Amino acid sequence: MTPPDRLPGSKIPATRVGFGMARPGSNAAGPQAPEEAEEKETLPPDARIDLAKERAETGIDDVFNALDSELVGLAPVKNRIREIAALLLVDRARAQFGLSTSRPNLHMCFTGSPGTGKTTVAMRMADLLYRLGYLRRGHLISVTRDDLVGQYVGHTAPKTKEVLKRAMGGVLFIDEAYYLYREDNERDYGQESIEILLQVMENQREDLVVILAGYKDRMDAFFVSNPGMGSRIAHHIDFPDYTLQELDDIGKLMIRAEGYKFSPDAEKTFREYLNRRMKQPRFANARSVRNAIERARLRHASRLMEADKPVGKEELTTLSSEDFLSSRVFANSDSARTSDDSLTE
Ligand SMILES: Nc1ncnc2c1ncn2[C@@H]1O[C@H](COP(=O)(O)OP(=O)(O)OP(=O)(O)O)[C@@H](O)[C@H]1O
Ligand SMILES: [Mg+2]
Repeated sequence: MTPPDRLPGSKIPATRVGFGMARPGSNAAGPQAPEEAEEKETLPPDARIDLAKERAETGIDDVFNALDSELVGLAPVKNRIREIAALLLVDRARAQFGLSTSRPNLHMCFTGSPGTGKTTVAMRMADLLYRLGYLRRGHLISVTRDDLVGQYVGHTAPKTKEVLKRAMGGVLFIDEAYYLYREDNERDYGQESIEILLQVMENQREDLVVILAGYKDRMDAFFVSNPGMGSRIAHHIDFPDYTLQELDDIGKLMIRAEGYKFSPDAEKTFREYLNRRMKQPRFANARSVRNAIERARLRHASRLMEADKPVGKEELTTLSSEDFLSSRVFANSDSARTSDDSLTE
């Protein structure tokens, strides 16, 4: 299980308007945080709210700027996130007039191939919801079936509940969520975990956002077999595969972030590398790009060590063609087929 994440640059939002306002059914019995109790005043009907100012005060533009500068492409995904943010800002404004009576359902489903940015965007989403006041902590816990489901009778409920406890106040990200359900085995312990999740997704949605992730076709089949789960998902976001140009741009962004650059030759070799890698087995979009760069850095380092010559900044920062050419991706197709993904790059 990944430890709770907090993205760099997160800060307490300037305003935490929202769920402190008396809302039927929301935390009715529980004690309210002092900051929430203070903000219960309903605005008079003739009051005006400056939405741009509200937006600026939440600091959500930092999240959008980070999405734009860190993530290449993904235009449809970024647009959907802007729409969700607008919806929530308007919901907050409505709540100040006493117009919103229940918290909107925020559970989501992110579908797409491996390495298309689902986990990265989920972390940004957690930050966004935190800044808008819809999450108390804004951390993200990433889990798979093995973190939720036990091997023996009686082990699943405590495992699932422990994960839920850790995720409260933030986002529970369930990768390849469809593995929770096994069609061929009705007594599979995964079903027990699904039932607990369903209950919490319904009853504790003020304090937890669940994001299910995985391949689109398998997720669709999962919702057909588990309609209760499907009906609790408010937002479905599909992550497209990257184009060759986008993969190239992602690579350049990654090496720049690590303080490297390509030699003029390496730029062409890298693009050819991507072109070949895309067609090979276990290609995983941006994850394959990251793996390729990590392996190139290893070769670069070995090359400098073996040369046994003094090096300057130029040598230390320049990846050259040969750092990519010795990859298996350029070997003949038989030897390129390996069972180990990291070796493939
Ligand atoms: N659009 C992008 N621009 C730049 N880097 C990206 C982009 N998309 C993904 N990455 C990087 O690629 C790597 C894999 O991304 P991420 O883990 O978010 O993908 P994923 O869809 O969750 O993949 P998986 O299904 O394999 O878990 C990360 O290092 C991430 O920073
Ligand atoms: Mg992931």
